[in-house]
Amino acid sequence: MKKIIAITRGDGCGPEVVNEGIKILKIVSEFTDYDFEFKDAPAGGEVWKQYGTNLPEKSFETIKKSDTLLFGAIGLPDLPPGVAESAIMKIRQGLDLYVNLRPAKLYDVLREKCPLKSEFIGSGIDITFVRENTEGLYKNVGSLGEDSAENLMFYTRDGCERIIKFAFEFAKKRNHKIVTSVDKANLLNTSKLWRKIFHEMSGNYSNIETEDIYIDAFTQWLIRAPHRFQTVVTGNMFGDIISDEGAFLIGSLGMGSSGNIHPGKVSMYEPIHGSAPDIAGKGIANPIGTILSVKIMFEESFNSSEIGNEIDHAVEEALQEGRTVDIKSKSLETLSTMEMGDLIANKLKSKLKA
Ligand code: NAI
Ligand code: MG
Repeated sequence: MKKIIAITRGDGCGPEVVNEGIKILKIVSEFTDYDFEFKDAPAGGEVWKQYGTNLPEKSFETIKKSDTLLFGAIGLPDLPPGVAESAIMKIRQGLDLYVNLRPAKLYDVLREKCPLKSEFIGSGIDITFVRENTEGLYKNVGSLGEDSAENLMFYTRDGCERIIKFAFEFAKKRNHKIVTSVDKANLLNTSKLWRKIFHEMSGNYSNIETEDIYIDAFTQWLIRAPHRFQTVVTGNMFGDIISDEGAFLIGSLGMGSSGNIHPGKVSMYEPIHGSAPDIAGKGIANPIGTILSVKIMFEESFNSSEIGNEIDHAVEEALQEGRTVDIKSKSLETLSTMEMGDLIANKLKSKLKA
């Protein structure tokens, strides 16, 4: 199975973590039928300095002709905010990547790294946020004046239906018992439409329980009882916020993974962290967020939950032997980015060989 994977290394620690993601892909191609061709699609701050654009036409063409995109992180401290980063929006909007899938899973071995007391963690944390990624407040519709400013929160029925459908199908695939919808239907018209559609569509999934929670209440429940959530579906801005809150629960920002997905089309997989200028170039960034994004790539773009599971288990086993500094443990060896990637790659190798 030949797949073309566009690679955007990006800025700061981006190239360091992407190399470890590629390492995992190479192991998979060595031991399975997959055959990957990697094509560079540079974007971000360094590229902007060189070419005056954060996403050269050639890079976007490469991405559009690929099966998927593995993306590091972009942003440079010596550039004004957004100059590099707006490339991400161009890709999301340009490819109509309407699903932002962000798992927040706390590995048992990292329980002590979770900022919550054990009584709140309870039976464990394994939540998947399904965030609408193309509509709502972030469409950049509005105006900025001296004395007033406005943004338009706009949702369409089609936009709501496709993301809510994705969430239910995801929950079904994972045997999740419940889908939680987060909105602000007591105040916002957009949420009233959202909630109506959520209820309509839940009728097609009679085996899955549903609940509605207001965004303000949800931010509390997420730290009071995170174990009660499985699939959580929500709009663009609420999803941005609560998925970051979720990422805080899994031990380190460096562990967070994501997919920007349009089912059946070119999709983008990236760790949730930024370019981390404070640690860039030191070889200490945690590559697991990127490696788990590769896991999501297999599950969502290549329809291979088996390989996804193997990557997941390889990460879990590796965490019992060594750690990067952000999740370090007194009793385990502290590893560099590359060493952590090697350890996971070796675990994966023995699984795929077996
Ligand atoms: P950041 O995520 O880069 O860093 C926040 C903190 O987390 C830092 O202390 C950093 O050292 C640490 N951290 C990040 N990734 C880590 C990893 N893999 N392993 C260990 N520790 C890690 O966020 P920050 O500092 O707010 O942003 C830096 C730049 O990245 C900015 O230009 C920002 O706009 C950009 N950014 C880009 C994103 C993207 O490309 N998708 C997402 C978020 C921020
Ligand atoms: Mg965010």
